[in-house]
Amino acid sequence: NKLGREYVIQIEGFVSERFSKNDKMPTGDIEILVDTLNVLNESLTPPFTIEDNTDGGDDLRMKYRYLDIRRDAVRSNLELRHKMTLEIRRYLDSLGFLEVETPALIGSTPEGARDFIVPSRMNPGQFYALPQSPQTLKQLLMVGGVDRYFQIVKCFRDEDLRADRQPEFTQIDCEMSFVEQDDIINTFEGMAKYLFKTVRGVELGEEPFLRLPWIEAMKRFGSDKPDMRFGMEFVELMDILKGSGGFSVFDEAEYIGGICVPGCSDYTRKQLDELTNFVKSPQIGAKGLVYAKINEDGTIKSSVDKFYSADVLKKLQDAMRANPKDLILILSGSNAMKTRKQLCELRLLMGERLGLRDHNKFALLWVVDFPMFDYDEEEQRYKAEHHPFTSIKAEDLDKFLAGQTEDIRTNTYDLVLNGSEIGGGSIRIFNPQIQSMVFDRLGLSQEEAKAKFGFFIDAFKYGAPPHGGLAFGIDRWLMVMLKEESI
Ligand code: AMO
Repeated sequence: NKLGREYVIQIEGFVSERFSKNDKMPTGDIEILVDTLNVLNESLTPPFTIEDNTDGGDDLRMKYRYLDIRRDAVRSNLELRHKMTLEIRRYLDSLGFLEVETPALIGSTPEGARDFIVPSRMNPGQFYALPQSPQTLKQLLMVGGVDRYFQIVKCFRDEDLRADRQPEFTQIDCEMSFVEQDDIINTFEGMAKYLFKTVRGVELGEEPFLRLPWIEAMKRFGSDKPDMRFGMEFVELMDILKGSGGFSVFDEAEYIGGICVPGCSDYTRKQLDELTNFVKSPQIGAKGLVYAKINEDGTIKSSVDKFYSADVLKKLQDAMRANPKDLILILSGSNAMKTRKQLCELRLLMGERLGLRDHNKFALLWVVDFPMFDYDEEEQRYKAEHHPFTSIKAEDLDKFLAGQTEDIRTNTYDLVLNGSEIGGGSIRIFNPQIQSMVFDRLGLSQEEAKAKFGFFIDAFKYGAPPHGGLAFGIDRWLMVMLKEESI
């Protein structure tokens, strides 16, 4: 009568077939007729139920993580992660990749976050930085003649946390020499398809993934990681709505864009107010929301009816390809990219509401040709959009050499899964002069560049091969693949 939940016991007896079998349990076909029973260890009553649907909240589960891991739901995720790393090694080994461990106590490897630093006992006042990624180290491996490298490696970034962003996380980090962008994309698209099949049992088919230029992704979806499980693409409305009525908000705008939400023309005043509050919330930051409903009889009713003629509204409806019962939602603003990002949040919200972000669907694409530089308004200076070792597209190199910093495209590619960036990389600069010019354009003086990256620039003076690579975030990839809400 003393046995309780989670006791550790040892039993001797006979295994026999059950009369009433339980097909919900892996051992539900048998039972043990006990001769002797030995309690090896007792257990306190666990603070939450150790079942798939537990009553423990996140805090409790994390405090008692060892009990949480006893739950099958957690255990099976660990098993899939194990399977994933096993299959990655198998796949890359078959293609002749060499797994190399790179050091963790090093100088800074910048990826745009803050470093975690470790004081050096031997050199008082000096510090190591834990790697944000092994970026510089893997490039040195290429100079060292390791043509195909990979590593499953912990990275450290002291940045604000989100459900899909952790201070320590694991990358599948890869680099190849004598390659062009297509070689990398093809190799790792193959790996992605292989992993989906072996780890998740999902066939992604023979078709190559879509490759969408960054600028097009921004214009059509307002995001460099568009969720392609559904449409609701942006339509730019400047031609139709700017200066064609007396609506000063639109007349002063630098960008006006809309989405057409199918079947939502019956949204009530309250629901529309709620959407307006959503776009005006500090996280989104829009000034307001304009809507137009297409009634069942095809007539249009909008929140800006008093400004626009029926003719203009008809043009709007046509441009949006809106059908009866559809709802058109429109944002405008003085900064086109910012407004597109706001509209992106609205698109994702409406996609979620309409159940279009189906967890059983996997939509993968490459976003390519990111800009080299991104202007940081707060710090009032240019930063590298990816990292400073990214090569510039041949078509844009002359413009860069002539001093232009805006609209310089790079040989970059991100792999996006259901609206999450699960990996990304680039073809690198391997010419020391161009590398120095990029540092210069990022506001790094020659002395600073030498102090920070001298070892790196020097290496490229000894016959560096052309090379490129990418890294996947294994935690984030698994999170999306396993339909989890957070890493
Ligand atoms: P990047 O910074 O894009 O590129 O990182 C590569 C991938 O790592 C994942 N990731 C993260 N996952 C969880 N928590 C985080 N804090 C986090 N930060 C990044 C993402 C991302 O796509 N050295 C370059 C790669 C290269 O150019 O080869 C790099 O680190 O899935």
